[in-house]
Amino acid sequence: MGLSERIDNAVMQAVATGQGGVAPRQLAEALRYATTPGGARIRPTILTSVAMACGDDRPQITDAAAAALELIHCASLVHDDLPCFDDAETRRGKPSVHRAYGQPLAVLAGDSLIVLAFEVLARVAHLDAGRSARLVLTLAQRTGMPNGICAGQGWESEPQVDLRAYHRSKTGALFVAATQMGAIAAGQEPDDWEELGARIGEAFQVADDLRDALYDSDTLGKPAGQDDLHRRPNAVSELGVEGAIKRLTDILSGAIASIPSCPGEAALAQMVRMQAERLIPVITPVAK
Ligand code: IPE
Ligand code: IPE
Ligand code: MG
Ligand code: MG
Repeated sequence: MGLSERIDNAVMQAVATGQGGVAPRQLAEALRYATTPGGARIRPTILTSVAMACGDDRPQITDAAAAALELIHCASLVHDDLPCFDDAETRRGKPSVHRAYGQPLAVLAGDSLIVLAFEVLARVAHLDAGRSARLVLTLAQRTGMPNGICAGQGWESEPQVDLRAYHRSKTGALFVAATQMGAIAAGQEPDDWEELGARIGEAFQVADDLRDALYDSDTLGKPAGQDDLHRRPNAVSELGVEGAIKRLTDILSGAIASIPSCPGEAALAQMVRMQAERLIPVITPVAK
């Protein structure tokens, strides 16, 4: 089984946990709609790659961690698209969850996915209670306040925003969760893995800002030009297109250099390089 199939299976299995019994049909459907087919699945890919680089001695725990992280990410997108946040009509090339199911079910689908993420982690406690608890704690810290993605979204309601703090929590948090949860799932200490996650997250956010500024909505599968529209601080307005691309490549080389020594270090560096190539926008022709 390839990596992407492994991750898709883990996500689908996790979602199925939330659909059993006499569950309300539309909400159960909305959970699936919000999670499959997925986007790039970059966070669980990084998580699983780190776990593999560290030996992946409990693959079921790795799969639970990868699924939990992707569920949190999908939930954050469902809520982010709501009219009270970005009011986005499309996501991943199809109507956003609230456009397809209505706002009440979109709020509930996001809530349910967040709860399900932690349930999935608790369910592997019988394999290794210590790892399960550390995964719960790490994911909670990177999801909520004061440093998680809730904090990141919260910055958008402040009159003054520090671009780096905003990006670190809005986007970086789940990439740090990815590298640290990969290490924890394989029984390793997470501290050494924070820097790699933070650097990939920073690069990803700069790439996202570039795509938002340069691509059209059809190419993105979601509304383009949002940063300007909402007057959000972003790397392109701060540095210009060329400056942002330079920052992106600088951060990525730092990311590769920061990989801690581990048995699968070379393969992991290769994976980061591959993901990096997907991040760097092709700027010609500029479709807008
Ligand atoms: C989009 O994330 C949200 C940001 C944090 C910028 P992705 O670009 O990873 O979304 P999908 O999962 O691939 O659709
Ligand atoms: C979404 O950020 C980040 C989270 C939901 C944590 P954006 O609003 O910048 O991302 P897109 O453009 O909708 O994917
Ligand atoms: Mg947003
Ligand atoms: Mg948005």
